[in-house]
Amino acid sequence: MNEGWLKANVWPRFSRVLGRRDVYLANHSLGRAPDRAADDVRMALDAWYRELGGAWDLWMDGRERLRGLTARLVGVEARSIVPKTSAGQGLRAVLNSMDGRPRVLTSDAEFDSLDFILRVYRDRGRVSLKVSPFESFAFEPCELVVVSTVAFRSGRVFPHLTEVIRKAKAAKALVLLDVYHHAGIVPLDLGALDVDFAVGGSYKYLRGGPGACWLYVHPRHHGRVTLDTGWFAKKDVFSYLRPDPPQFAPGGDAWLESTPPVLTPFQALAGLEITLELGVERIRAYNLEQKAYLRTLLDCEGAGADHGAFVTLVHPRAVELSDALQKEGVTTDARGDYLRICPDYLNSREELERAARLLQNLSAR
Ligand SMILES: Cc1ncc(COP(=O)(O)O)c(C=O)c1O
Repeated sequence: MNEGWLKANVWPRFSRVLGRRDVYLANHSLGRAPDRAADDVRMALDAWYRELGGAWDLWMDGRERLRGLTARLVGVEARSIVPKTSAGQGLRAVLNSMDGRPRVLTSDAEFDSLDFILRVYRDRGRVSLKVSPFESFAFEPCELVVVSTVAFRSGRVFPHLTEVIRKAKAAKALVLLDVYHHAGIVPLDLGALDVDFAVGGSYKYLRGGPGACWLYVHPRHHGRVTLDTGWFAKKDVFSYLRPDPPQFAPGGDAWLESTPPVLTPFQALAGLEITLELGVERIRAYNLEQKAYLRTLLDCEGAGADHGAFVTLVHPRAVELSDALQKEGVTTDARGDYLRICPDYLNSREELERAARLLQNLSAR
């Protein structure tokens, strides 16, 4: 994969977003959609007008395709991928499958969504919560570990992953990984990691927009009952039978909820397909090259393989710098002191040079 090849083979499939005039380096935030996403959503909508209730076959097919593609991406079976509208919804489904007041161990680098949910559960007395530093994470006895494999603010890859999984297993604690900054940009094999749960979504690297998220449930937990349930989790969902006690669908379908959103899979299919077509290994190799190139132009951090997709400039005026860049037509973002800059395979070298030049000048002021 090089710029000439991408220009000829991939960029034409992104003509709508590439028609913008700015240099877009917020690919770690809202990923850029392929043109086809709009056609797919349109097709799913057209079926509603044309077929009314008959559109459900197409809509369910879209959901199953999304599960299958996501499963391939992360090395698991399709039935273990449970569509959710957010990563947080996935975490709540897991918390609501646990009895009593479980002890949850998490890191100090979790994204606001999961962090907020855990602290609200703590304050309502539903969990007891221990927070360990991401960098020097220390496992301690608990019922559930919740940790990101790539930190959203710094981009740092969680350095203790295999050790924490091993210790959790030995202590019979469950592990839930937040792979939102990992899936689609850094190779990931959840099956090989043998974790219990993971949450991720299409908003960023998978180019599927908001709402197309998922919870991975290891097959050994398919039979576990979560209170976050609904009639799509029933056995023979459209038979309208009401056996008592309630009976659940087989496999990960037992973790489904009520009537799902039907357009979000269509919004996300094209992005997932392109990711699998190009291959995460190749996408990552290209990303590492781009980050290394940025590093030659800019005194930034996170260019190596021990970080995810973006580089950061740690600066007390990071938010101000990001605003100033935006005024000059370069889109980045800032989280606290971290200015996040994320190139992707739609960015040219020339764009990286322009952004770096601007940033050098602005940060020196
Ligand atoms: C690490 C991480 N997890 C989760 C999310 C999104 O969470 P949710 O889907 O609950 O809004 C983000 C979004 O930026 C994130 O960076």
